[in-house]
Amino acid sequence: MRVCYLLGHPVSHSMSAVMQNAAFKELDLDYVYKLRDVKPDELGECVNCLLREPQVRGANVTIPHKVSIIEFLDELDGDASIIGAVNTIVNKDGHLTGYNTDVTGVKRALGEKYGDLAGAKTVMIGAGGAAKAIGYHLSSSCKKLRILNRTPKRAAKLAEYLSGLAECSATVSASPLSRGNMAEALEDADILVNATPVGMIPGIDETPVDSDLLRPGLVVFDAVYNPLRTRLIREAEEAGATTVTGLSMLVYQGAEVFGLWTGRDAPENLMARAASEALGGAAR
Ligand SMILES: NC(=O)c1ccc[n+]([C@@H]2O[C@H](COP(=O)([O-])OP(=O)(O)OC[C@H]3O[C@@H](n4cnc5c(N)ncnc54)[C@H](OP(=O)(O)O)[C@@H]3O)[C@@H](O)[C@H]2O)c1
Repeated sequence: MRVCYLLGHPVSHSMSAVMQNAAFKELDLDYVYKLRDVKPDELGECVNCLLREPQVRGANVTIPHKVSIIEFLDELDGDASIIGAVNTIVNKDGHLTGYNTDVTGVKRALGEKYGDLAGAKTVMIGAGGAAKAIGYHLSSSCKKLRILNRTPKRAAKLAEYLSGLAECSATVSASPLSRGNMAEALEDADILVNATPVGMIPGIDETPVDSDLLRPGLVVFDAVYNPLRTRLIREAEEAGATTVTGLSMLVYQGAEVFGLWTGRDAPENLMARAASEALGGAAR
């Protein structure tokens, strides 16, 4: 049996385990996905003693190890190396390669609703880990990216980083998160992205954008997937906007992980159903 782990601290609840185990079962693969709580000071030993074992196919990596794990790996794939964060590891004969599948996740999730992003004007709220992966995709495929963040310095730092990448095709700017800046930024925007946890359980009554700023013609993508339909997604639908849920990104990033580990096409609909059921309903 091949084993895949989720390394994190804590790891009590995982949609990846639900999706990957359902997919392994569906394709009758002799694989199992297990959760492994690893404290920061145990990470190096865990990588060197556990992940290189022949029966271990790889791992997903979550908070707080996505950046600190890099020093223990042998190689980084392109997106992981640019973003400086790893969410997936593949073990091939003891050689460990780190990947970041969030980029594929957002690319496919947004792409299926919006199509080609060239020429698109985008507004992204947030400047943390998810914002870095999402911002990388947006800055390398859109015309304009405006980053709004509660801590303005962090937005400015991310904008500077993305602007400096060779792949950057967009004019990237940063502003403090405020109603005025949001209203102005959304005036000519095509796409709005929430890359903050605002609206996530338990704060399900919160939203990062006032509903009167939402309108038809706007594509609204919320990275939050728990709840499946956030207040932002509900209000965007009510305003006539097109919506993209966090579940889509989650499933597409997980499908890439499945492919990296097994070499097989992921049963995406089944993975979406498994995650959706675990989260309490349908939303994709
Ligand atoms: N769908 C998917 O596949 C997927 C993948 C990754 C992440 N996510 C989701 O994306 C969300 C963000 O995750 P992350 O890893 O990027 O978190 P993170 O690294 O902790 O970053 C959080 C960001 O949100 C901002 N923020 C936090 N609380 C806020 C508030 N009350 N008001 C305004 N801004 C606030 C922070 O602003 P400051 O800089 O001011 O602190 C920061 O920019 C989470 O809900 C996560 O579950 C989804």
